[in-house]
Amino acid sequence: MTGAAGFIGSHTAVELMAAGHDVVGVDNFANSSPGAVERVHRLADGRFTFVELDLRDRTSLNELLRRRPVDAVVHFAARKAVGESVDIPLDYYDTNVNATLGLVSVMLERGVNRLVFSSSCSIYGEAESMPIREDAPARPTNPYARTKWMCEQILADVCQRHPDWQVTSLRYFNPAGAHPSGLLGEDPRGVPNNVLPYIAQVAVGRRAELSIFGDDYPTPDGTGIRDYIHVVDIAEGHRLALEALGEATGHRVINLGTGHGTSVRELLTAFSAACGRELPSRVVARRPGDVAELVADPSLARELLGWKATRDVADMCRDAWNFQRHNPNGYAETDRGGTEQ
Ligand code: NAD
Ligand code: WQD
Repeated sequence: MTGAAGFIGSHTAVELMAAGHDVVGVDNFANSSPGAVERVHRLADGRFTFVELDLRDRTSLNELLRRRPVDAVVHFAARKAVGESVDIPLDYYDTNVNATLGLVSVMLERGVNRLVFSSSCSIYGEAESMPIREDAPARPTNPYARTKWMCEQILADVCQRHPDWQVTSLRYFNPAGAHPSGLLGEDPRGVPNNVLPYIAQVAVGRRAELSIFGDDYPTPDGTGIRDYIHVVDIAEGHRLALEALGEATGHRVINLGTGHGTSVRELLTAFSAACGRELPSRVVARRPGDVAELVADPSLARELLGWKATRDVADMCRDAWNFQRHNPNGYAETDRGGTEQ
């Protein structure tokens, strides 16, 4: 598992081990901390090996897979901030595309042909109709989304050339929430880009108020609507996608969303209910590049994987608040010690 110390990776590692898989995780802590690895070890219900490694270092990756053979790869490692990707596009192409090329080359060399790839609803851009199905045209509108679209195309080409390859790209909508234990959650570096971690930091007193980016959208309350999906549902989706890889060769693309939209105001109300006080907010200008509504049609995931999200926005707010209040400053930086934990 690449990006195993990250938000979705850490939850998925726990989910996979609970189902009996052994996990070898790598991460370079570019956007995460060793504290998350330590928490995964605490929750692990199986064997978890972690190696600090930059995925762009093909030699070390090759050596790791020689030493610790794996039968499949779940690839989360990437940079994911849309705004930042406009400022430093080359870093995004390097981490997201170049590292994926390296990973696939090493997999070819090591004879590993099964992969689950983290893709994104951002590939759809401004979709014409809601909810969004996988056959909607790809119209990425920023470098981050283009890196995800390029990776999907690279993977499709590899599958074309190597007919035994089994790859699933999961396009997630808006992952949110935390592990119900309160041990794992979202711990972004700096000012959160995403709305739910921002609200959680308002709730715990780290930020004064939520800036609502526009209330003049053509939605019932004027604020943007998104398909928030619990990170544990996403983790289960990865387990099922991994276990279903053997059912089909080639490249499959599957949405992970709930099919339900929630506005920014509704989300703020739900979080206020979870933390027991009305959280302050102020309406500011729209954020450039934002769209009014993005909601998944998740029926293909149900059909192909037998997967359906079972947790709602109230669950996401409860679990995110549970993590935030027990970890007001996120994961404490722990001593990195050696490179293998
Ligand atoms: P995250 O930043 O918490 O996790 C990504 C992890 O990859 C981090 O731990 C980071 O340190 C690691 N990483 C980055 N560059 C690396 C490198 N060169 N070598 C090794 N590790 C590296 O993000 P997340 O929310 O867990 O996202 C995981 C994946 O899901 C990403 O590919 C992201 O693009 C995709 N995704 C996320 C969302 C979302 O809103 N969270 C939505 C759709 C898709
Ligand atoms: C959600 C809503 C904002 C912050 C991003 C990426 C997408 C995917 C998921 C990776 C919008 C509003 C936000 C704030 C606000 N990630 N908002 N105040 O933009 O839907 O999607 O994350 O693949 O690619 O683009 O998520 O959480 O930033 O915003 O009012 O401080 O909250 O306008 O309506 P977004 P988000």
